[in-house]
Amino acid sequence: MTYLPTPPAYPLARPRRLRQSAWVRDLVAENRLHVSDLIWPIFIHDRDVAREPIASLKGVDRLSINEAVKEAKEARDLGIKVLALFPHLDERLRTADAKSALDPDGLIAQTCRAIKSAVPDIGLLVDIALDPYTDHGHDGLLINDRIANDATVEMLVEQALVLSAAGADIVAPSDMMDGRVLAIRTALEGKGFQDTLIMSYAAKYASAFYGPYRDAIGVKALKGDKKTYQMDASNTDEALREVAMDIAEGADMVMVKPGLPYLDIVRRVHEAFRVPTFVYQVSGEYAMIQAAVEKGFMDHDRAVIETLVAFKRAGASGILTYFAKTVAEKLL
Ligand code: PBG
Repeated sequence: MTYLPTPPAYPLARPRRLRQSAWVRDLVAENRLHVSDLIWPIFIHDRDVAREPIASLKGVDRLSINEAVKEAKEARDLGIKVLALFPHLDERLRTADAKSALDPDGLIAQTCRAIKSAVPDIGLLVDIALDPYTDHGHDGLLINDRIANDATVEMLVEQALVLSAAGADIVAPSDMMDGRVLAIRTALEGKGFQDTLIMSYAAKYASAFYGPYRDAIGVKALKGDKKTYQMDASNTDEALREVAMDIAEGADMVMVKPGLPYLDIVRRVHEAFRVPTFVYQVSGEYAMIQAAVEKGFMDHDRAVIETLVAFKRAGASGILTYFAKTVAEKLL
């Protein structure tokens, strides 16, 4: 605990003195949002059009690889440090065994190579999970209708190796299988990818706020729910155990997800571990703000900045947000 002297009483203390004008408010601001705090998630597709709107995410388009390269250049010029890549695959590539997740020429592998050769100085984060590749929309393999933890981990390891070889800088396991971080770290070390960073989705909750994302990656009907692997919204101590395990297994950075409904978790993780702690302002949070703005209920820029500053205040090192590019333009 830091020592806090008893504040003097009014009128010696008039807290409003520090709020009387913009310059003094700026001078004493405790937290500040910077463009280098932002990670921008983008969706890639393999159809013959440059951009395709996503109904549930107003202002977010699925991009062709060429278009993603263009956006990567713009993002780099705006000061964004990392892009997070998500695929929207053709229906035929979604199978029960998710084997297209391991294709060295798959959509995300190709995107990594294209962006890395055109814009080598932007970081690339790739999601490690099977949901864009399975026909049922789960992050893991289903055997007798149950998620098969260890068989899934074997796939995730291969996926991480394939994408590291394609140029991904950060692998981000988002699947919540047990033991995946250790397995991925061990394999990366063994295959000469000792510099690949792992950002684990360590405290990822089973959340209604992922709805629009499933539309974005084209999951038609998720069979059941993800509650046997993603965390229960009631829990906070469990988040600390998950984070502790992932750090011990070799994660360099950890993530809490979703964002605003879980600010308490961001704060606890940051204070308990003092490791780079990221937060994902997920699709439902984005869509909720856009919907309210569209109705004229609140101001877009103020609402967005307020949520992002809240993450900083809670202790986040950085934020994955679909608002990243728009905000970067404003921060310039
Ligand atoms: C799944 C994954 C999800 C998101 C990122 N990776 C959804 C889920 O777990 O169902 C959500 C992102 C968002 O909602 O913006 N591997």
